[in-house]
Amino acid sequence: MLLPDLNKLFTKKLTIYQLGNPKLRAIAEPVIDVRDRQLQKLIDEMLFTLKEIRGVGLAAPQVGQSIRLIIIASHPNERYPDAPLMEPTAMINPQIISYSQEVEKGWEGCLSVPMIRGLVPRDRQIVVAYSDRYGNQQTIELTGFVARIFQHEYDHLEGKVFLDRVETNLDLVSESEYQSVISNT
Ligand code: NI
Repeated sequence: MLLPDLNKLFTKKLTIYQLGNPKLRAIAEPVIDVRDRQLQKLIDEMLFTLKEIRGVGLAAPQVGQSIRLIIIASHPNERYPDAPLMEPTAMINPQIISYSQEVEKGWEGCLSVPMIRGLVPRDRQIVVAYSDRYGNQQTIELTGFVARIFQHEYDHLEGKVFLDRVETNLDLVSESEYQSVISNT
């Protein structure tokens, strides 16, 4: 007999808040109790939501929770064919400890800013610290696309979106233009 996917039965897909919602512009509050049941439930729901929409990253303010929690889930997909594969990871109270100072521009999109892509300068390499969902303190080095996702999600905790990071509005394009022209060059 086939067992039902319990995760699918009991976890709900969250609504992604869209640009203009004040929650996306607030500075998120630190998480005090990592073991809090509501927090653990939120992590499960964010992981589930990200999987359903096949996103590579999600920050708690994007689902209306103004707390310092992000999920990084890099994997190759239609939107980012060159993304490396990594286990979806919840990062609580994340911090950027050091920057490479070596900046590179790359294309970004955001679930809260649909239909637009931007060429965004980010540090190529960063060292980050965070608490995992079990309360263990972690320190890791991130490079390239994953470092980019982290910086993008971290910005959400500071009330910023990638539109605030482009050097010029000329670096903003529509999703259709991006798909038909830029991603093929
Ligand atoms: Ni985003």
